[in-house]
Amino acid sequence: MNGEYMAAEIREQPAVLARILREARSSMAEIGAAIKRRHPRFVLFVARGTSDHAALYGKYLVEIELGLPAGMASPSTMTVYDAHPRLRDVLVIAVSQSGSSPDLIEPVTRARAAGAITVAVTNAPGSPLARAAELSIDVLAGTEQAVAATKSYTAELLALYLLVDEIGGRHNGEVERLPDQAATIIGREGAIAALATRYRFAEQLVTTARGYNYATAQEAALKLMETTYLVAQAFSSADLAHGPMAIIDHGFPVIAVVPPGAGGAAFRPVLERLHALSADTLIIGDVEAADQGTVGLALPELRSESLSPILTILPLQQFAWHLARERGVDPDQPRGLQKETHTW
Ligand code: F6R
Repeated sequence: MNGEYMAAEIREQPAVLARILREARSSMAEIGAAIKRRHPRFVLFVARGTSDHAALYGKYLVEIELGLPAGMASPSTMTVYDAHPRLRDVLVIAVSQSGSSPDLIEPVTRARAAGAITVAVTNAPGSPLARAAELSIDVLAGTEQAVAATKSYTAELLALYLLVDEIGGRHNGEVERLPDQAATIIGREGAIAALATRYRFAEQLVTTARGYNYATAQEAALKLMETTYLVAQAFSSADLAHGPMAIIDHGFPVIAVVPPGAGGAAFRPVLERLHALSADTLIIGDVEAADQGTVGLALPELRSESLSPILTILPLQQFAWHLARERGVDPDQPRGLQKETHTW
């Protein structure tokens, strides 16, 4: 193998997004209606790894679009410390490509017994997690073979977006453009391959963004670590300013995701500080911001900030793939990892 699975699955994403838009709408409407009838007061996400980053995106959607408080569960409080949180009136959303990790299944089982509304968002509709939840959403990504999740991630993002849209009753027509926009972005692979050569000898880097694309920064760092073995640490750009900024000095590599919109605007002061420190910045997203990076990748396709994470991660998946190959690593065989990870 030479990364063929991961490369094929990255390229499959426009088709996966189109499939979700075509096939998932009616079941999503039913599930959205069932949730609305119960009037949840709080949304709690349960997830691991890449799916945890999809859940982080979901948290921003719920807080901004639905005006509901949302948080991420700490599964060990239940599986290790045997806590029984009072979860009546809570919507618990578990996100998982495989639906198989015990520390996702147990919190959902406890939440359901405690009277919560439980929803599994998975790429495995027959999985134990999907069975444990009262409601289940199939993200329709199809079998994912590469250890590094790509298409299941963007499928989870879109499924969460559509679910929140159904609950909130606000329909954004921009979503229909996603498959074409994704295809255009993926088609610029040559530029990414050229960029990756710059980072061939990097040992560490920081990824950062503000708002919806904090999920992209987190997911890009994970993709880079598991496929290239460099140390990549993700920060919200606000958190970066609260201390970690001290590690940044001349030439320190920083990958910044700067979409058009409020999140990108909130990033600007941090960008100025990064410039002042002479950091080596790769800026992905907004056309103007990309121009200000040491290197930049402009994505003129980005229009709706809340949908942008479904697109901004695509060049970063390709970047991780190309950088792995540059460094002589097979991105399909990250050392010591398997497709399904079970934690307790
Ligand atoms: C990273 C990756 C893992 C999985 C994680 C969670 O590319 O694939 O981080 O996302 O093991 O697994 P699921 O989503 O199956 O619960």
